[in-house]
Amino acid sequence: MEHLSEVLKILDGALKANASMAGNYAGLLADKLERSGAREDAVRIRERLSRAPAAMAYAQDGSRMASAVPMDADSRLETVDISYSEVQADNFHLPSAAARRFQEFVSAVTHYDRLAASGVASVNRILLHGPPGTGKTMTARRLANELKLPLATVRCDTLISSLLGQTSRNLRRVFDFAEQTPCVLLLDEFDALASARGNERDVGELQRIVIALLQNIDALPGHVVVVAATNFAQGIDAAVWRRFPYQISFSNPDPALREALWKSMLRDFAPAGLHWDELVRCSDGVSGAIIEQVCQDAIRTAVMAETPKADPAEILRRLGIAISSLRGHHLPSIEDEVRWLRAWQEEAFSQRELARLYAVSTRQISNMLRGQNAGKTEVEERRSV
Ligand SMILES: Nc1ncnc2c1ncn2[C@@H]1O[C@H](COP(=O)(O)OP(=O)(O)OP(=O)(O)O)[C@@H](O)[C@H]1O
Ligand SMILES: [Mg+2]
Repeated sequence: MEHLSEVLKILDGALKANASMAGNYAGLLADKLERSGAREDAVRIRERLSRAPAAMAYAQDGSRMASAVPMDADSRLETVDISYSEVQADNFHLPSAAARRFQEFVSAVTHYDRLAASGVASVNRILLHGPPGTGKTMTARRLANELKLPLATVRCDTLISSLLGQTSRNLRRVFDFAEQTPCVLLLDEFDALASARGNERDVGELQRIVIALLQNIDALPGHVVVVAATNFAQGIDAAVWRRFPYQISFSNPDPALREALWKSMLRDFAPAGLHWDELVRCSDGVSGAIIEQVCQDAIRTAVMAETPKADPAEILRRLGIAISSLRGHHLPSIEDEVRWLRAWQEEAFSQRELARLYAVSTRQISNMLRGQNAGKTEVEERRSV
């Protein structure tokens, strides 16, 4: 039977006398029916929901929450942030192995009930780990998008910066919320919560948090979708790793992925004849987030200059400056930038090109470059670090 999974969850809610859970899943069922063309059935469900007490009426509209969003009692800040993400497939690029793993997870979540009936379902939990800016949060958003569920992002900072002992209570509320509300629960910057036991200052408190986290994860029904994302995988407790049967390791993009990212992020602003291979080569070791930033900056420059395409040299210049900052090399003056760019990609940044980019004369550029040799030595020194 189609939509059996929602019906079962409504039944669970009713059996547990949990009206908001039943209402939430009924709202989701109405949405799904509507999308599949059964509009009249959807209307009947929503009409029934509208007769429920006031708080429940929210569930008629699948985009709102019937259960109250959990809050930290001390700071009165919400510990979960609800969003409805739109990460389109066109803007979502993963290395092939990660993409495959992602699809496997989507399909396991979608067919959870069927897998459970055959006794081969594993819990719907995935751990995303890897360096900053490699697309972990974006992947969680894309997942929510594909599953047509809201994304409930746990604010780990609000969760743990509260009174001592309050954290476990906050965790409980967050997991109760996730159980009652159809959503993808995202524990972002997960390391803040799940650092290894015993190697921190406040060992006692940290241990209690990890234990509370494990208990909450264990108590969660397997169908609830949980995503944990971290860029500090070494710090995660081994007992936590075991609770996530699906894992995706992220890394800075390889050449093929960099090319796809440049192309999709420059969009129609990519100038004809752009040397993609040069961009791909020069952006080795750079994250997707930085490529995105460079593209947006270059596009912004084009828009301000009222030109329909981004300037290839400007793209490379922005990339060079981003890379200098990644290497901890600050460029406070234009002279520093010019020297750095020249030392970084001598062929691409001829004196004439630099003069054009910085709207100065080639003589001024050549004056700036007089310290070039010193600059180059410095660059090379830093590269070798
Ligand atoms: N593989 C990718 N495909 C498409 N966009 C990407 C990719 N990697 C990074 N981005 C872009 O970079 C930006 C940052 O990505 P995201 O926030 O997902 O990184 P993250 O891995 O969660 O980083 P952090 O560990 O710092 O939280 C996003 O706006 C996203 O569009
Ligand atoms: Mg992130």
